Order: sequence, then structure tokens, then C-alpha cells
Amino acid sequence: MHHFHYKQNELCCEDVPVSAIAAKVGTPVYVYSHATLKQHFDAFDGAFGDVKHLTCYSMKSNSNKALLALFAGRGGGVDIVSGGELYRALNAGVDPSKIVFSGVGKSLSDLEYALSSNILMFNVESPQELLKLNRVAREKGRKARISIRVNPDVDPKTHPYISTGLKENKFGIGVEEAIRQYEKATTLNGVEVVGVSCHIGSQLTQTSPFVDALKKLKELIAQLAKMNISIRYLDLGGGLGITYDDEVPPHPKQYAQDIKTELASSEWTLILEPGRVIVGNAGILVTKVLYAKTSHEKNFFVVDAAMNDLMRPSLYGAYHAIQPVKKIPGERLKADIVGPICESGDFLAKDRLVETLAPEDLIAVMSAGAYGFSMSSTYNSRPRVCEVMVREDRFEIIRTRETFADLVRGESIPGFLGED
Ligand SMILES: Cc1ncc(COP(=O)(O)O)c(C=O)c1O
Repeated sequence: MHHFHYKQNELCCEDVPVSAIAAKVGTPVYVYSHATLKQHFDAFDGAFGDVKHLTCYSMKSNSNKALLALFAGRGGGVDIVSGGELYRALNAGVDPSKIVFSGVGKSLSDLEYALSSNILMFNVESPQELLKLNRVAREKGRKARISIRVNPDVDPKTHPYISTGLKENKFGIGVEEAIRQYEKATTLNGVEVVGVSCHIGSQLTQTSPFVDALKKLKELIAQLAKMNISIRYLDLGGGLGITYDDEVPPHPKQYAQDIKTELASSEWTLILEPGRVIVGNAGILVTKVLYAKTSHEKNFFVVDAAMNDLMRPSLYGAYHAIQPVKKIPGERLKADIVGPICESGDFLAKDRLVETLAPEDLIAVMSAGAYGFSMSSTYNSRPRVCEVMVREDRFEIIRTRETFADLVRGESIPGFLGED
């Protein structure tokens, strides 16, 4: 369920016509629906309502402060992967005791920052990280609560770029080695073992890989128990998919049910790290047609958004539905929707049946709330776009459009260039 609908042929976000937002803030613009965000968070979190759990929203999917504050206000924590994400989360008011830190390359300063912020748990991804974290914690006179992120070697049956739980992936530690690392961790004064974790991939459309991963974690926990290592937190990661095109992912209720059935006992606090399923269908990217052109009998609509604003189509060949902001009667034609960037990989949609668009027409790139703005860059020196949140008949800018001055902020011309 989302709240982007046509009212008298005008695409609206909740009760606001999308064209009114574009008129006020310009294009391209990301538009998020407050009602959809809230509903998705509550549906997910509520599905686990009867077991001890913590929903740690995976903020890499969309890290705008407004969204973090919204979820934190509903009891959510966050899953972070960098010091920058920790800064954003704390700045948005997320409770540090609800923050888990994953990632294969946590830097020394990231570890120090997270330790002094007293986050809930570090999901450790390598033996060297464990030693570094122990050293940092000892230097600070603290104990770092840890889990080991296990790579359970489960096929998530998704795009290879977003598979993370196969043995050939860089993430986590294999089960056998994880056992050795848990044993090692018990000898280190700077760390306290509190959990096990995994994250097997993103955009999963079946529950069986999650259940398979959970089975492996349970076996591991049983082995650890024999070694007198007890576990409080079981972090299953994120990864539940959404509908972009014709995918039929399980409803969060079904996902929760299958996990709870496998979990059986609830002595652990379950941690979940959903990203896409909460925000993906709660946002759209609105862009304006600049030119319509036909080249070698192929139709192109050149729009003002590009791969730097929404990278997923270029990066993964990902599908996003394209919808007109005002329905236009008449013939549809097959066309590519492309951006102004000087790369043939710069497209938002390929060979799509779309309305016969004209310059100044607005279109919406649907399901752009996850891994949209957060993956954007300023490639081709294109300032990052504006973000807006709609609530019923009101909307507010939640990130202003960057300016040309922002593009050169921090850059300088070295004095020695003047020596020539
Ligand atoms: C460790 C971890 N947790 C959670 C997520 C969120 O995944 P999704 O957006 O598919 O729920 C990711 C995504 O890559 C991740 O790496």
C-alpha cells in the first residue's frame, strides 16, 4: 500500500498534487509520503509485536533526518554502516541504545565514535576488526558489545550485486571461523559477546532463504551454548523485497510468521534491519521532460533527472515504473527515459511504453524511496536534488536543493599553481 494516486488525472502524493510540489520547489525532486512511511514501519514492526524484538531501520536505504526522526518516534532504532550514519542518527534523535553497527570496513575513528556513543552492538565482520575493536575499547576503558556477523552461505536468489550471504561474498565470517572468533572474543577484555548476526541480501522475494539462515544461526547458538557462550540478541539483518514491477514479495506479516515459526523459542531479542521494505514504495522521483528526440528510429525522452540522482537503473539494470504526473490522452510509444549525463549507461527506463511526452511534462519515477537519494552523487557537477515530505494536504522541504556553490565547497586551488 502506498499513497500515490491519481485524482482527476493528476498524480497526488496523499492530498497534494505532485505538480504543485514541482511548481514550488522545482525538479528533479524526491517526494516521500508520511502516511506510507508510517504505515510501512508500523506494519513491519507490528508483525513482530508478540516477540521481543527491535526494528533497526537500515538507514543506508534512505538516511534523511526526517525519516530517521519519524521512525525513532515510533520506537525504531537504526542499523548503521559508517561514522557518518551514526552522526546522522544521533543528530536525528535516535537512541544510541538502539543502534547496531554493521560493515566490513569500520575505520578506527568509526569504532571510537561508536564506542563513545555507547551503541547497542557492533556486528563484527573479521578477526582483525575484533582485535582492533578490543584494543580501542580497552584504551577507552570500555567494553564493546559485539555479535559476529556470520556468513551463512545461503543463496538469497536476488541480484548478484545485492547478495551478501554467499561464501564468495565479502561480508561476515563463515560459521566454522565464527566459532573460533567467539572463543577468542571471550578471552578479550574489551569486548562482551551479546549476539549473533547475519544479513544475506536485499530485495528477497521469498522467505525460505531467511528461514535457512535463521536455522544456521540457531545451530551456531546451540554450539556456542555448549562452550558456555550465551547470546542475547539474534540479528537477522534486512532484505525483504518490494514490488517494483511484477514481483510478489511476501507481506511483512508472512515474513514475520515464517521467522517466528522457525524461532520457536523467544529467549533472544530479535533484531531486524529492514530498509527497502519500509521506504522503497514511500517515495518517488519527479522529473521534467527537457527534450523528445528520435535517433535511428529509437525514441528518447531526455529528462532533467539522471543516473547521479537515481543510480539503480544504471547500476543494477533495476526497473522503476514511469508514470505521467498529468495523464495525457492519446497514443503511447516505446521510448528510453534518459538523463543529461554523458554516459550511455545514464537511463532511468529502457524500451518503455509511455505517453507521448512533450518538453515541460512531468513524470514520476516510482518506488524510488530506497537507495535513491542516499546513493546519489554530484557526477557531472549536478547539485544533489531537493527532498520533500508530504503529510495529508501539507508538504515541507526536508533537504534543500544543493547549489553550485555547494559543488565547490571544500575545494581549493593550491598556492604552487601560481608558480608557473
Ligand atoms: C547489514 C545490512 N542490513 C540491512 C540492510 C538492508 O537491506 P534492505 O534494504 O534490503 O532491507 C543491508 C543492505 O544492504 C545491509 O547491508
